[in-house]
Amino acid sequence: MKIAIYPGTFDPITNGHLDIIQRASLLFDTVIVTVAVNSSKTPMFSTEERVDLIRSAIKEKKIKNVSVDSFSGLLVTFARKKKASVLIRGLRAVSDFEYEFQMALMNRKQDPKITTVFLMPHEKYTYLNSSIIREVARLDGSVRDLVPVAVQKKLKEKFTTK
Ligand code: COA
Repeated sequence: MKIAIYPGTFDPITNGHLDIIQRASLLFDTVIVTVAVNSSKTPMFSTEERVDLIRSAIKEKKIKNVSVDSFSGLLVTFARKKKASVLIRGLRAVSDFEYEFQMALMNRKQDPKITTVFLMPHEKYTYLNSSIIREVARLDGSVRDLVPVAVQKKLKEKFTTK
């Protein structure tokens, strides 16, 4: 059984993240997408909202071997608890590399048995991140085709009630 963890802030999940999840689900027996509770960021969506949005997106795509969780503390500790031997990270462009390289090596230092695997999302998503989605939605632009339907709805709700 190869178990992989795909960690992130997911504030909110985008189609770029979902693309990575789909690719990972074809490579590993189980993929656990996990929302970081205590990242250095101040998220717009609560942990529960982010978990629910990922669950809806996975359901919409009918991906079977993926579950969703959240974690606080050290990522490798969570991975060990889940008996995972792989961490998945997405690489969109060269600009992601330095940060990802540093994180992968630090995680390897913490636990040499856990390997980071990088996957590239489809090139049509390489310019996406969660902040740009939040900004466009806040300014009433269209995020259609860029985020799952549940996220579109949630963003609309968030910004029309404000
Ligand atoms: N498609 C679209 N956007 C993507 C993406 C993809 N395929 N891959 C990454 N992104 C975006 C994210 O939306 C995010 O954008 P934002 O900054 O606008 O929010 C950005 O790229 C990077 O975010 P993410 O992949 O979620 O990573 P992160 O840097 O927020 O999270 C953790 C990093 C949570 C995995 C890391 O901090 C961690 O492991 N923390 C736990 C504590 C720990 O163990 N620390 C030691 C680590 S060495």
